[in-house]
Amino acid sequence: MTTQRTQVAIIGAGPAGLLLGQLLHQAGIDNVLLEQRTAEYVLGRIRAGVLEQTTVALLERVNAAARLHTEGLVHDGIELAFDQQLHRIDFRALTGRGVTVFGQTEVTRDLMTVRAASGRSTIYEAADVSVHDFDGDHPCVRYRVGDAAHELRCDFIAGCDGFHGITRASVPERSLRIYEQVFPGGWLGVLSHVPPCHAELVYAHHPRGFALCSQRSPTLSRYYIQVPAEEALSSWSDTSFWDELRRRLPPEVADRVTTGPSVEKSIAPLRSFVAEPLRFGRLLLAGDAGHIVPPTGAKGLNLAASDVEYLSHALNEHYAEGSDAALDAYSERCLQRVWRAERFSWWFTSVTHHSPEATEFGRRLQQAELSYLVRSRAASTSLAENYVGLPMDF
Ligand code: FAD
Ligand code: DHB
Repeated sequence: MTTQRTQVAIIGAGPAGLLLGQLLHQAGIDNVLLEQRTAEYVLGRIRAGVLEQTTVALLERVNAAARLHTEGLVHDGIELAFDQQLHRIDFRALTGRGVTVFGQTEVTRDLMTVRAASGRSTIYEAADVSVHDFDGDHPCVRYRVGDAAHELRCDFIAGCDGFHGITRASVPERSLRIYEQVFPGGWLGVLSHVPPCHAELVYAHHPRGFALCSQRSPTLSRYYIQVPAEEALSSWSDTSFWDELRRRLPPEVADRVTTGPSVEKSIAPLRSFVAEPLRFGRLLLAGDAGHIVPPTGAKGLNLAASDVEYLSHALNEHYAEGSDAALDAYSERCLQRVWRAERFSWWFTSVTHHSPEATEFGRRLQQAELSYLVRSRAASTSLAENYVGLPMDF
């Protein structure tokens, strides 16, 4: 067994782990990243597409925003579609801010590039990763690469290993409080090399189910449709996906959908999940390892970014000033933001999706809510403020 030492062991090289690694590197804090997959596998996962300004600012800070600024698409609003009509929510007019549409894959690729340039260690294909003694002063991480066993001794462990990772699962059950709610069904997503059907994102409510028209570039589109929970991916051919998507869109949008072969197709769940607290001694959870939101509000990646901003700040204070005040406040500070995003994401999902469990009364309330949302300036502003996100000092 080889033994190595670092200041912060980061488990998971998704966006949270990579961004944290870079923020710590810039503060002169040594860190090692351990990722169970290959870099190519991580880049093959097609996920989020919308970045808040605070996330963009963080990526600028770590010098990973050059492509984002040339290739990312700044959107000043979204369209809500229902009753066969489009209703624009003008973020810029209502909040003074917009969002940037740029795929998580590309964010991750650029973070991998700056990580490689930093010279800090990243270990891909780390197997059997396990965390130890984080409730004492000398935590360590054990893992294997091939047949070789390794031990990484450290001051802190950052759990950035996503919802299915091992860090949260290593915390004794009695120390964790879990809050979870699952919305029936999931999102079937398709990526296709076709031009987007609309200049901005279209969030469509329809009696057959929710649909979302998103995009990655003028020649690459990302579409989603709500599907029943038990639905198998294999039961959706490209043709059946395009037909169902168009059925759920107002004619002026449906007529502009260009179809083509899918280059990726996957189903994502609609889950709300929060683990409390996010700190256990010297183990700190960040991103999906600690919380999940249904994708409707486009908050998952943005929350992961704000967690690691708080975490890097807290660790910096520990090393630079010998103060643990920010580490002590870490969980509470993140959770305030997390719960605000949970509220928004659940609400936006409930207003726009078809629930098989809804009563006729519930459906009428949903219609009234949508109509209020586009007619009331206060309601539109609330949607816009939550969608474009909170300033970092919230
Ligand atoms: P992840 O991106 O999950 O990264 C965790 C990393 O840890 C992975 O690379 C994983 O391989 C690694 N890992 C796991 N276990 C171990 C281990 N034992 N040892 C070492 N490494 C490990 N958000 C949106 O805003 N919009 C969307 O459309 C959207 N779609 C999504 C679809 C799916 C299927 C999923 C799962 C999430 C989606 N999200 C979406 C959420 C968003 O992508 C996440 O919030 C974001 O990826 C969180 O980043 P993260 O770094 O915390 O976790
Ligand atoms: C995308 C994903 C989302 O969850 C969302 O709300 C908007 C866009 C996307 O993948 O482009």
